[in-house]
Amino acid sequence: MKPGTARRKLPSMINEPVHPAVRIGHVHLRVVDIDRSLGFYRDALGFGVVADGRPMGLPAVFLAAGDYHHHIGLNTFEGAGAPPPDPDRAGLYHVAFVYPDRRELAKAVQRLVDYGWPPDHATDHGGTVSVYLDDPDGNGVELCYDRPRAQWFDDDGRPILKADHFDFHHILDHPDNGGR
Ligand SMILES: [Fe+2]
Repeated sequence: MKPGTARRKLPSMINEPVHPAVRIGHVHLRVVDIDRSLGFYRDALGFGVVADGRPMGLPAVFLAAGDYHHHIGLNTFEGAGAPPPDPDRAGLYHVAFVYPDRRELAKAVQRLVDYGWPPDHATDHGGTVSVYLDDPDGNGVELCYDRPRAQWFDDDGRPILKADHFDFHHILDHPDNGGR
């Protein structure tokens, strides 16, 4: 039986919430063409290549921001040229990369514009400000920064859920080059 298909009595420990330090470590994507994907994740976004398995016969490349072991895996385990993901099927909607502040997000957006791969749109979610685009395989990619924690919740403690679309160029227009 698959998890979640039936409720049953569980030992109390199993009812504990997941440890609060658990976080998303990396995203690992099946891609059609690793070099094409590197053009996006390495060249347009600036992630560094930590390991390239191809010379050893492993059709996968791993990238990271900073000195982490990897935030992104790209593979053609299913074979280069595999069909791209079908947007009508369940699966990844987008993966979000969090930049430390709006200035760093603005730099990333400027880099994408310079590279000729500009964001598709931008949205102010209240707690976060995000730009969106697709990677070469059509996987959604969100780049965002978090506003201060006090702005994540309303006066009643509920998460602020809004989606105000704006022209991504506003991020670049701010005098501090930090934008919205
Ligand atoms: Fe998102």
